[in-house]
Amino acid sequence: MNILLVDKGLETADASAVRALAARAEEQDGTAPLSGQTLLWLSAQASVVHALAHDAEGALVGYAQVDVGGDEPSAELVVDPDLRRRGYGSALLDAVAQVAHDRPAAEGKHAAPSHGAYSVWAHGNLPEAREFAASRGLEPARELWVMSRDVTPAVGTVVPGGGAPVEPATEAEVEYPALPDGTRLRAFEVGRDELAWLDVNARAFAGHPEQGRLTRDDLQARIEQPWFRAEDLLLLEDADSGALAGFVWVKVVDETGGELYVVGVDPDSQGRGYGHLLTAVGLAHVAARGLPRAFLYVDADNVPAVTTYLRAGFETTARSVRMRSTRA
Ligand SMILES: CC(C)(COP(=O)(O)OP(=O)(O)OC[C@H]1O[C@@H](n2cnc3c(N)ncnc32)[C@H](O)[C@@H]1OP(=O)(O)O)[C@@H](O)C(=O)NCCC(=O)NCCS
Repeated sequence: MNILLVDKGLETADASAVRALAARAEEQDGTAPLSGQTLLWLSAQASVVHALAHDAEGALVGYAQVDVGGDEPSAELVVDPDLRRRGYGSALLDAVAQVAHDRPAAEGKHAAPSHGAYSVWAHGNLPEAREFAASRGLEPARELWVMSRDVTPAVGTVVPGGGAPVEPATEAEVEYPALPDGTRLRAFEVGRDELAWLDVNARAFAGHPEQGRLTRDDLQARIEQPWFRAEDLLLLEDADSGALAGFVWVKVVDETGGELYVVGVDPDSQGRGYGHLLTAVGLAHVAARGLPRAFLYVDADNVPAVTTYLRAGFETTARSVRMRSTRA
């Protein structure tokens, strides 16, 4: 077995091989081993190190990506479903530990020395991943939830007697929630709103390890994605000053559902019910796009956010666990 470390964007063929491997694992495991951000970083210029595991014939059998841009290196790791229990996962984890040891959060602007500590995400919290991580001395440190709910029939459609309407809504029938006086809602404008959005995003997610450190380049990379539509990133602003108070960003990659990709409220505007409002706006927007379900990712210990989503009718449908090593 051969592990190759690459610290620039992968060649197209390697990136395709990783995507194919991740797709095979998802089919087998019922959960995607690599997150959307990790897939974006396969071929982009980013603060990540790629570890590619090949068999003797040179076929890709496993992959890990180590994000060294944060406070502490964090990785995602996958082994071909047909080739597990042969030590590939362990070899990749050794490579992750080595990267963490050699480059402890080297490029993070706000990085503190992590003394070789690192973590690995176990998406879906699969039993084999838990066993694997436990066998390697990793411990659960952070839990991320997928929460979802149906949006068919349309949110905002008033149903007499509370019964379920029979017809799914068309775009024209979806009612967006009423806005408080003095506020207005409009779509993001590319080329105009980037800096204001980044500022509110950084302030709203100041305590969040990934979302809070999104850069202009990260935002641009999202804007250039095929799924990006400016009209799906809705800005709530003060009607007089135009100051951005919060936003809800809906991401749609297929017909199965719409993701409430990011909901953020400026700390100065928190406590006014804008979180509930923007969640309801996001749900209406998913319905307006004709999609049957809405889903989102949230930190399990983010009580204000989880409470907001529970009250909006979301349920927890999947869990990912960050498994942490304290010392490489
Ligand atoms: C988790 C994963 C990366 C393990 O890869 P792997 O190549 O099978 O791992 P290894 O062969 O190096 O296994 C090392 C040890 O982990 C434990 N382990 C791994 N899979 C296990 C399973 N299904 N049941 C029990 N223990 C398991 C064992 O102790 C194993 O040693 P052993 O085979 O000598 O008993 C792989 O199952 C995978 O890709 N899962 C989906 C993605 C994922 O969840 N990634 C997050 C990892 S934290």
